[in-house]
Amino acid sequence: MINKRFPVIIIFFFTFTLIGLACTKKSMPVITSRTTEPIKKEKTALNVDPDLIAGKAIFESGCKYCHDLPLLNQFTIQRWEGILSYMIPRARLTAEQSVHISAYVKANASK
Ligand code: HEC
Repeated sequence: MINKRFPVIIIFFFTFTLIGLACTKKSMPVITSRTTEPIKKEKTALNVDPDLIAGKAIFESGCKYCHDLPLLNQFTIQRWEGILSYMIPRARLTAEQSVHISAYVKANASK
């Protein structure tokens, strides 16, 4: 009896040993070659400082193709926000240009 069951017991023993080894937590690899550099902050439209002079230039060059330049003080800031939201894509301005032009237009809007 014992002689017959012996190989089965050995196989069970090996199987569970292998599963046990495969499932143990691996230790974290230690990376020694990497140097730590500070993460550079990209200049995106969201952290571009609005530049009124650049905004004036963009307004005067980008908004005159389809109609005369509109008078800035004929609309309130609120109206301009709405108008710019569909005129900026028409003028094909970049996100950065739209920050400047919005600041310029709002600075000169009617109160
Ligand atoms: C591709 C052509 C095109 C460009 C570029 C364009 N516009 Fe217009 N704009 C129009 C048209 C067409 C109208 C007529 C009204 C409409 O379609 O909404 C208009 C109307 C307007 C009006 C009147 C809106 C109203 O409600 O009375 C304003 C103000 C204006 N545009 C501002 C701008 C500004 C500012 C820019 C630059 C960012 C600009 N537009 C660029 C085509 C253009």
